[in-house]
Amino acid sequence: MSEQPAPARKTRVALLFGGRSGEHAISAATAAGVLRAIDRTRYDVVPVGITRDGRWVVAADEPERWEITRGAALPEVAADDGAEVILSLTAGEHTLRTLEPGQVPSVLGEVDVVFPLLHGPFGEDGTLQGLLELADVHYVGAGVLASAVGMDKHFMKLVLEGQGLPVGPYTVIQSRDWEHRRAEATAAVARLGMPVYVKPARAGSSLGISRVEDIADLPAAIVEAQRHDPKVIVEQGIEGREIECAVLGGRGGGPARASLPGEIVVNHDAHAFYDFEAKYLDEAAVELRCPADLPDKVVAQVRSIAVRTFDAVGAEGLSRVDVFVTPDESVIVNEINTMPGFTPYSMYPAMWAATGIAYPDLVDELIQLALERPTGLR
Ligand SMILES: Nc1ncnc2c1ncn2[C@@H]1O[C@H](COP(=O)(O)OP(=O)(O)O)[C@@H](O)[C@H]1O
Ligand SMILES: [Mg+2]
Repeated sequence: MSEQPAPARKTRVALLFGGRSGEHAISAATAAGVLRAIDRTRYDVVPVGITRDGRWVVAADEPERWEITRGAALPEVAADDGAEVILSLTAGEHTLRTLEPGQVPSVLGEVDVVFPLLHGPFGEDGTLQGLLELADVHYVGAGVLASAVGMDKHFMKLVLEGQGLPVGPYTVIQSRDWEHRRAEATAAVARLGMPVYVKPARAGSSLGISRVEDIADLPAAIVEAQRHDPKVIVEQGIEGREIECAVLGGRGGGPARASLPGEIVVNHDAHAFYDFEAKYLDEAAVELRCPADLPDKVVAQVRSIAVRTFDAVGAEGLSRVDVFVTPDESVIVNEINTMPGFTPYSMYPAMWAATGIAYPDLVDELIQLALERPTGLR
């Protein structure tokens, strides 16, 4: 059951980062930011790194170790970073234990809240959230279903469409379609018109995404997307500004809160779209404008659509809702990210900073939201 932390000691927060997805290094960079900012007078921090093959290990409480530095190798959690860690799945125990070869497991500590700083599959997609539900532990962010829906761009669109939210035209290509019904799949893509965006249904950080301007380039784009996910979604290219909005769950049963929107401005001479390079490696090619320069009416519409999108998928805690604002000022939802980039330089914290919540306070708010909500069905 959901016990409040004993007042005798500080609230203990396990930071989970790294992980099995292509966004391992980004997650480590987020951990660096949170390790620096979290209020140590209120919280005991237990950093737990997850290796690329899924092993949990005690990780260094050293922000420098986890940062992304230009010219240096990307940060990576290694099996020999520390002792292996396991989370007790016995409901009510909330305990992390360490396992050393040939030794009896020892208790690392009772955990009051888990902060999964993980992006992509096996972290942001409901799988980890399922484990945390089984362990009956409080955790930051969306639950199982919302995480899964937010991760899968196909089901995300179905859920949003079903609740009247604006999404663009698309078609889904399963690997069996591509193998056995390629002509039909290609015709469905051609009907969308060019350009299209070919994406792994479940990835992130623009990994595996191609912009295709000539249908002859579709097969190569499908192969690239399938490297990340056998399920591929192809979307009509939308002409519009890339606007993002940060959403925070409501406190005490109140409605979710939306930040002022921000804008991503990509130098299109350098990058055809907001691809992985532009996101993480070529800062000069991208400008994050925060708040975005938009008419009040559009700002209000973006904020309202962001909260409706958050509620439509049943998100909790935090999400970033990304939209396109077209030249005629209509708003189309691109996606919801239930664990958005969260380094101190990321758009999500920047939008809250512009709206009046500084990064350390945001970390605090997210932990408090997690402690406030009950574990189990809710
Ligand atoms: N339908 C689309 N129309 C125009 N640009 C798109 C479209 N889909 C994606 N993009 C471009 O590709 C980028 C990454 O796509 P997105 O769906 O956000 O994937 P990810 O989940 O990896 O962030 C977007 O930020 C945008 O620049
Ligand atoms: Mg995106």
